[in-house]
Amino acid sequence: MSERKRILTGIRPTGPLHLGHYAGALENWVRLQNEYECYFLIADYQVSDYADDISRVRNAVWEVALDWLAVGLDPESSSFVIESLVPEHAELTTWLSWFLPLGMLERNPTLRAEMAAIENPEDGQTKGKSVPVAFYNYPVMQVANILMPRAHLVPVGEDQLPHIELTRETARRFNREFKPIFPEPEGLVGRVPRLVGTDGNAKMSKSRGNTIDLKDSAATVAKKVKAMYAGPPRGLDEPGKVEENPIFLYLDAFDRDTSTVAGLKEQYSKTGVGNKILKDRLTVALNELLDPFREQRAQYEGNMSLVREALEAGTNRARVIAKETMEMVRDALDLNYLSKFRVAALTPSPSPDFAGEGSRRGGK
Ligand code: TRP
Repeated sequence: MSERKRILTGIRPTGPLHLGHYAGALENWVRLQNEYECYFLIADYQVSDYADDISRVRNAVWEVALDWLAVGLDPESSSFVIESLVPEHAELTTWLSWFLPLGMLERNPTLRAEMAAIENPEDGQTKGKSVPVAFYNYPVMQVANILMPRAHLVPVGEDQLPHIELTRETARRFNREFKPIFPEPEGLVGRVPRLVGTDGNAKMSKSRGNTIDLKDSAATVAKKVKAMYAGPPRGLDEPGKVEENPIFLYLDAFDRDTSTVAGLKEQYSKTGVGNKILKDRLTVALNELLDPFREQRAQYEGNMSLVREALEAGTNRARVIAKETMEMVRDALDLNYLSKFRVAALTPSPSPDFAGEGSRRGGK
């Protein structure tokens, strides 16, 4: 069991998961869960709404766990982890924050956009707020999340790749300057790196209200698909451009009958196919995908103590690894002050910072 390489990946508890999460990441998690020792993290330290609405975060922790169980993640072979119940994440974040240059965070386009949105909300109604320090902490914490179980692979959506690069740089630097503890983790993006929203926007996201959620009922899915953006307006039997109609992106992503979809595309560009036909087909395909998830979810909703047990057991397993890693980190940084009787003033030190017998800090 301990022979297996490790996966760490996670999600912020902001609400129910949607098709974009599934095709971009979750599907890989399910596929890889038996090959790797997996830690799936609910990153509650990294949500910004504490001050506003703590109950939303608390609800979302359960929503995420239910969605994970619904899609078939197995909480016995994998660990579902609540981040803040493993406070070593915060501890490692503190140490690592000394090694990450501030400029790197200030230049990060994702962070900049998020901070700008807080200071000047786009809706024109909400009053702007000042940016919490947490915006600088959370990318460092994501690095700490990945390094904590010394993970090898991080299956995520495309938007998370810059954070994985940051993790690789941090691991390299730590290994070189202190002790070689951390693997340099690889990112892995799913089959559909970025799913368009139901409104035709480039990205499906909760904040844009353009999602189809994994827990949506069959009727809700039908309604959402019916209202989907299907390219520029066309007459009923007018040919259209396949690449202008995002329904085809969805069919490519979720309809298993690829040859029929290929036929429809050809017909669409030659003689035209009504959007209703495409949308009805998509509705069927989506409900075929989601039906087993709905069933599984209902089972767990009827027995929430199983969900609680899954979260508790996974979090406990993560604590064991976290303690182990923090021991290694403390040893590498030579922080075990009380285990060696040494008086700094009497011990000539070779290097001004983090000096001591145990220090491996080489170079500059
Ligand atoms: N930032 C990720 C998101 O918004 C969630 C996350 C937190 C994560 N820690 C992680 C993802 C570590 C991968 C690895 O979805």
